[in-house]
Formats: sequence, structure tokens, C-alpha cells
Amino acid sequence: MNDFLFTRRTPAQYASALHGTVDAVAIHLAGTERPRSAATPAELEDLVARVDLDRPLGDVAAVLEETRRLYLDHAVHFHDPGYMAHLNCPVAIPAVAAEALTAAVNTAVETWDQSTTATLVEQRLVDWTTARIGFPAAGEPDGVFTTGGTQSNLQALFTAREQRLSRPHAAPRQERLGRLRIVAGEHAHFSVDRAAHLLGLPADAVVPVPAGRDGALDPVALERALHEVTAAGDEVAAVVATAGSTDLGVIDPLPAVADLCRAHDVWLHVDAAYGGGLLVSPTRRHLLDGIERADSVTVDFHKSWFQPVAASALLLARGRDLRFSTWSAEYLNPRHAVRPNLVDKSLQTTRRFDALKLWMTLRTVGAPELGRTLDRVLDLAQEAGRVVADAPDMELVARPVLSTVLFRHRPPGTDDDAAERLVEPVRAALFDSGRAVVASTVVGGRRCLKFTFLNPVTTAADVERVLDLVRAAARDTAPLAAAAGAR
Ligand SMILES: Cc1ncc(COP(=O)(O)O)c(C=O)c1O
Repeated sequence: MNDFLFTRRTPAQYASALHGTVDAVAIHLAGTERPRSAATPAELEDLVARVDLDRPLGDVAAVLEETRRLYLDHAVHFHDPGYMAHLNCPVAIPAVAAEALTAAVNTAVETWDQSTTATLVEQRLVDWTTARIGFPAAGEPDGVFTTGGTQSNLQALFTAREQRLSRPHAAPRQERLGRLRIVAGEHAHFSVDRAAHLLGLPADAVVPVPAGRDGALDPVALERALHEVTAAGDEVAAVVATAGSTDLGVIDPLPAVADLCRAHDVWLHVDAAYGGGLLVSPTRRHLLDGIERADSVTVDFHKSWFQPVAASALLLARGRDLRFSTWSAEYLNPRHAVRPNLVDKSLQTTRRFDALKLWMTLRTVGAPELGRTLDRVLDLAQEAGRVVADAPDMELVARPVLSTVLFRHRPPGTDDDAAERLVEPVRAALFDSGRAVVASTVVGGRRCLKFTFLNPVTTAADVERVLDLVRAAARDTAPLAAAAGAR
């Protein structure tokens, strides 16, 4: 009875289930040749619908076999070189081992009495990251692990809002809330807009700052925006700078932005969800110069640090700013806490021990190797940019900065509109074929294809191969695209 639970009576069942799982994944890994199967949504719906959830198979081996057919065979594989779509990475093997550990022990890091050393491990990594950022020690920097950039940005902006509202002011809180503004580059991640909405700010609270010619936030435009907000009698809760924008990969001019934030006495949040990996890059750390002057920073370990989802952190220059997230609940013994209770710093209560993944990765390969791995990906993006620029039937939309490459296929005689019309059918055809996964997005008002590289195993030959697939898909879909244009 209860043999399916992880207890002192079931080490053999646990080992057998895990070994079976590890073997299945290892065999699958060796056998994958494409980023995904070519199964249609209808076929996959049918596969899932046919499972009778009220008739258990009663045996992990049988369930593993079923799950292989349902999930593993059709999953989108980020470790395959044909996957070039979004900010997903192949994962560090020590981190996968950490997942197995934390899932089994099931640590919840919210209080000391549920976590002990897990709390200390997370805290060490937070301290390690704030030191890499270079926050002044006098502020006693601190932070907390979160589920991703979206949550880190939300907590950063919540903290900034509360910090602003805690300043003495004649107007009542509710009135001030309606006048708070967040000033952000036009390319800031959409989670900033959503955070503003969740934080009860008005619909027009996020003031977009136009980019300069390089696609990064223009400091002159930022200064103008800051003046306009105050001239209108509104208050700036925060300025958001992005270190690695999702599409262009651009890094806002952090020193100039920090100067302006200081001059206007406003909170600076740096969203380094994507570019945060540069903190350990042996060759490109300087691209983040100025980040140490931020009030808060988002770093996503599950992007450019090769960690499994979820692993992100919000880092704050002054640890005491985390007090805004602190709520008291008697059942979590706040009065008797002998060590930090991480729940005091987090928007979550029950929380996974995600820090162990990064810890075990750092303890296995070390930060320089992670940085070199990211460097390889960034080098590949430069090379891919050259390959695209040199191809007479391709148009490079922007010079690659981090690991994205934006482009359009432009067969001879194709005008701007026709090249744009090809984008979506080509992207869909590649995905449907299962041979490559690329993304599409809109830059400068026009749709384009997007490669996002985070796999150091991908080579320029893979890029050439996928460009050939793009050409073939364009030939097949051109009549459809032309018909769409004629309508
Ligand atoms: C710049 C930036 N910020 C925030 C996010 C959100 O991160 P997450 O998907 O981990 O919530 C992303 C996601 O791509 C991003 O590119």
C-alpha cells in the first residue's frame, strides 16, 4: 500500500522508476534528429484525449512507455540544432540532476524550518550574483529566486511602486497611484506593461521611450519623457532599462540611463532576463557596465545560464527594499525564526529549491565555462548574421547584438510587402515539417523571421541548412502568400 509514495519504505521503487526514466530519456536523446515530430495538432489532441484518466496503468514502466509516445516523441527539443526560435536553452546536466534531487526531497524554501541549508544555498547564490553585478556593499544587497523574468519584473516594479509611495507626499496613496508612471524603452518586455496593470496603475502608466538608431533606448528621449511626466504633475515609479531585448538583443545605454535616474531621483530597474548571462562572459562582461548602478535587476538563469525552467532571480541594491514583500503569518513561526525565512522576501509562499540547479552547475563546471558557452552562442549569431547578409536572397533586418538574428527571405523580384507576406507561411511550414523551429516577430512595423540561438552545439552549417529549408518552404508557399497579397 502507498508504494507509489517516496518514503523510507520505497527506495527500491524510487530507484527503479528513476532509472527507467533516465534510461528512456538517454535513449531518446541519442535518437532525436529533429527539433520536433511532424505530428499535427489534431493527431496530438487525439493521442492525449484517448488516455482514460480513470483507468490507471498501475505500473511506472507502462506509464513511462505511454508518456514517451505522448510527450517525449512530440516534445519540442531545445537541444536540437534545428531549434532556433525562442529564448530556450539546452540544459546543464548537473542542473537536471539537481531537479531530480529537489523533486524527491520536495524542499520548500519559504521558511527555515522547511529548508535549512537550502535557504543558505539560495542566499549564497543571491549574494554571489549581487557581487557579480557589483552593487555597492554598503546597501547590503539582497534578492530572491523567482519563477522567471515575468515574476522578477513584477516584484521589481511592485518594490519600486512601494518605495515611491513610501516617500512623504501631500496627496493620499490612492490618488498618487493613479498618477504613477513607469518609463520604459519601447522594446521593453511585455511583462512590464502587464506588471503595471497588475499593480493597479492606469492604462497609460507605461510611457514608451523611442529607441535610437541602434534600437536601444535613446537617453535624450528618456530625459524628455522624464521631464514630461513631472511637468504633467505625475510621478515616475521606475525607469526600466533592458539588457538584452527579446527581439533585437539590444542593451540600453546603462551608464547614461543611470545618470538620468540619479539626476531625477527615480528607481532604475534593469531587465537583464536575457543579457544577464553576460555577467559571467569572459569577453563581453563590459556590455553590462552600469548595471551596478541599478536599484533592481532581473536575471533569468533559465535563459543564458543553461538552467532548466524555472530559475530566475530578482536582485536588489538595497536589501531592506525587500521589506515591502514581507507579510506576517503566525503559522510560519515568524517570532521564533532563528534564520532568514525566505518567504519574507518573496511574492510566493511554497517555493521550489530552484537555486540548487545553478549551485550544482557552478560546482561542476564553474562560472567561466558557463560564460564561454554563452560566448560561443553569441559568436554563432555574428556568423549567422554574416551568412544571412551575404546571401543574395536574404535580407538581414538588424545587425545581431546578442544571440538573435532577424531576417527576411527575399527571392529575386520580391518587394517589401511580398517578402513580409512570406514570413508567416514559411515559419509555419518549417514548424509543421518538424525539421526546424524558427520564430517570427515585428520590428520597425514589419514582420520578419527570427533565429534565437542558445545552443552552443549549433553551427554555421546548421544555419545554412535551415536557410535552405526557408527557401524550399518559400517556394512551396509562395502561391499562398501571393494570393493573400492579392486579397
Ligand atoms: C527581456 C525579457 N524580459 C523578461 C522576459 C520574461 O521572462 P520569463 O519568460 O522567464 O517570464 C523575457 C522572456 O523572453 C525577456 O526576453
